[in-house]
Amino acid sequence: MQKELENLKKEIFTQLKEVKKEGEEISKEVLRDLEVKFLGRKGELSRVLRGIKDLSDQGKKEIGKLANEIKQEVQIEFRNIKNIFLGEGRDDEFIDVSLPGEEAQKGHLHPLTLVQNELIDLFRSMGFMILDGPELESDYYCFEALNIPAYHPARDMQDTFYIDAKNKDGEYDLVMRTQTSPVQVRGMQKYGAPIRCIVPGRTFRCEATDACHEHTFHQVEGLMVDKNISIANFKAVLAEMFSGIFKKDVKIRLRPGYFPFVEPGFETDISCTICEGVGCSSCKHSGWLEIGGSGMVHPNVLRAGNVDPDKFSGFAFGFGIERIAMMKYGIKDIRLFQGGDLRFLEQF
Ligand code: DAH
Repeated sequence: MQKELENLKKEIFTQLKEVKKEGEEISKEVLRDLEVKFLGRKGELSRVLRGIKDLSDQGKKEIGKLANEIKQEVQIEFRNIKNIFLGEGRDDEFIDVSLPGEEAQKGHLHPLTLVQNELIDLFRSMGFMILDGPELESDYYCFEALNIPAYHPARDMQDTFYIDAKNKDGEYDLVMRTQTSPVQVRGMQKYGAPIRCIVPGRTFRCEATDACHEHTFHQVEGLMVDKNISIANFKAVLAEMFSGIFKKDVKIRLRPGYFPFVEPGFETDISCTICEGVGCSSCKHSGWLEIGGSGMVHPNVLRAGNVDPDKFSGFAFGFGIERIAMMKYGIKDIRLFQGGDLRFLEQF
């Protein structure tokens, strides 16, 4: 029976080959006759298939499988010939070449990327390198090297996500970085002093979210270490940065603030970009907007970066990119950035 099936298959394919001989037009009628002859209810293939019921169990299984495979192959071949040579089954694929094409939807840059790119351009023009660091950071770089030992209460200000995986030394010390500051130390270790760099990047904190807080956000860190660097240098760089971003003159105000990795440390304000310092609801009528932290790099941090604090000094800052974008574009809720709402994103 197996032989019979195989011979039948051979015969069908030979006859089909005849039908689609090159250069000759295929006749619908001839093809239909062949289909009836082989695949029809009273056709030859059906006749062989009917004989299967008289076989042993094992025979039914083997021959049945083979017969079905052959039937499928033959059906596919008939369908292909009809499609290709007679154009059947393709009515819906009719192409009207005179119709105008469909416009491809173009994406565009996210507002945070726009601000980040502007920052990169501004700092490049002042001779700063753009550095990157790991988002999954070691406890050492995220805290310890920044003068925040394990017992230090300053850790409470940056509750983070500790990761349930061991590092290559078999210790649990990986955290989602809470700040871009660890790249200060990584940068100094790699490039030494003098160094000028910024580090734009994603950061994470175990925050309850609201209009001003997100668990995942972005910061831009800055570091400049050289001989005789002073707060005056810092203010000049910052004025250049914010005037560049807001396209108007921006004043800088430094207030004492505590961050373990700088001494002295500053809460850093800029003159309100909406009322230009006169006082409005955005700046709570103070004329100033707080944008982040900064200070003169702590000697312990310089040492962690293998830089001699007796020879070099420097400033560092860390600002939220969302915050800058919110001020620049007048965005009231930080959650919009990652909400994925196209009505928001398409405005940029
Ligand atoms: N890393 C700090 C934070 O996320 C911000 C900061 C403050 C960065 C002072 C600095 C700095 O480089 O000098 O809260």
